[in-house]
Amino acid sequence: MKIALLGFGTVGSGLPALIADNQEKLAALLDETISISKVLVRSEEKAAQLRQAGHPWDFVTSIEAILNDDTISIVVELMGRIEPAKTYISQALAAGKSVVTANKDLLALHGAELQKLAQKNKVALYYEAAVAGGIPILRTLANSFASDKVTRLLGIINGTSNFMLTKMMEEGWTYKKALETAQLLGYAESDPTNDVEGIDAVYKLALLSEFAFGMTISPSQIKHQGIPTIQQADVEIANQLGYVIKLVGEIVEVSSGIFAEVSPTFLPASHPLASVKGVMNAVYLDSIGMGASMFYGAGAGQNPTATSVLADIVRIVKRFKEQTLGKSFNEYKRATRLAESSEVLNKYYFSVETPDSTGQFLRLVQLFTAVNVSFEQVLQQKGDGQRAVVGIICHKISQTQLASLETKLAKEDDFNLLNYFKVVEEN
Ligand SMILES: NC(=O)c1ccc[n+]([C@@H]2O[C@H](COP(=O)([O-])OP(=O)(O)OC[C@H]3O[C@@H](n4cnc5c(N)ncnc54)[C@H](OP(=O)(O)O)[C@@H]3O)[C@@H](O)[C@H]2O)c1
Repeated sequence: MKIALLGFGTVGSGLPALIADNQEKLAALLDETISISKVLVRSEEKAAQLRQAGHPWDFVTSIEAILNDDTISIVVELMGRIEPAKTYISQALAAGKSVVTANKDLLALHGAELQKLAQKNKVALYYEAAVAGGIPILRTLANSFASDKVTRLLGIINGTSNFMLTKMMEEGWTYKKALETAQLLGYAESDPTNDVEGIDAVYKLALLSEFAFGMTISPSQIKHQGIPTIQQADVEIANQLGYVIKLVGEIVEVSSGIFAEVSPTFLPASHPLASVKGVMNAVYLDSIGMGASMFYGAGAGQNPTATSVLADIVRIVKRFKEQTLGKSFNEYKRATRLAESSEVLNKYYFSVETPDSTGQFLRLVQLFTAVNVSFEQVLQQKGDGQRAVVGIICHKISQTQLASLETKLAKEDDFNLLNYFKVVEEN
């Protein structure tokens, strides 16, 4: 079974060695050899460099060389970004080739269209590596959870922000120091926006929604808030109240539909997700049959990601033999229904800057009470004589109440709402 690679970067260049290392197991599973034939690179210069470095594959610089090669059955796209990846994948599917990709941005934005094209041409489009790198979460949801109903999904699905938050929580690093170190270690790009603002997690959450809830939501329908606003005061209050702060993607189903959001979240220190540290990823599920379960592992990196890519290739080879290639990666599909905001209930943490004088706390209580929000836990930080920060965890409120409270606080000159984050309860 011949494969073409589009892109020979971090993940792409790891795939050949992984295939070689697993040759014995692959042969036992498939009674067929998998071999890489052509590799698309950007320029002749790059192709020459790679040949010189001893790589034995046929490096090409035009997609036509792959599309017109009838011996190639599987195209593995590992270039990233939207274009030309979208065009090349579409052309490969139209040419009757199955496609494996790890491109979450592309799939979250154009997955439905590409999936239709794959089905029309009776070929496969698989993308296990696009969510949580090495964790086989999509196939697990598609196969093993076929007999179960997921009611809530919580995911730590961005390693960069999790690394930064771990350092901020455990070592007292500032956001700036955490970001600089993440960039130095190669965990964050020079433009970290997608990672720190939760956009990368939004793309992955959109894909998880299809597999866990059978509903397609576009990234623009997923509310997101990033980690740059997290202050030292938030970290201290979280620590003192027994929580850790993580960037969590959540999808929950209520009677009116699903609600999806990526936001900094207070997790009880004893919650299984609180133990997910550094660049590691995890997806935590509440489901009717299984109860609570968590899938943990490396969310990125050459080997973990290439492992998921190779698993997709193996599945395609099997489907090819079974003559079931046209079957969709995910067959669970329901009409998308978005939850009413009044039905989505959560506890929230608020940090509010107040004048550092007596009587202010009572005024704050009155403001919250006016929109029917009651306090569960409060921590007043020592002020500087001028201003003080109060950390509040409220009882459960709806999205509608949250919006009213935000509006109310915005009108108050004395009180400055610094941050509010969702609080997840212990199961
Ligand atoms: N790295 C991870 O841990 C990880 C984890 C999960 C998913 N992914 C996904 O996997 C994909 C690949 O990631 P990566 O980390 O391997 O990226 P990468 O290291 O930047 O590699 C991408 C490669 O594609 C090449 N490329 C880009 N555009 C091209 C074009 N038009 N023609 C030919 N070659 C082109 C680049 O060449 P130049 O260097 O010449 O630009 C580069 O060698 C992305 O979609 C990413 O989101 C990565």
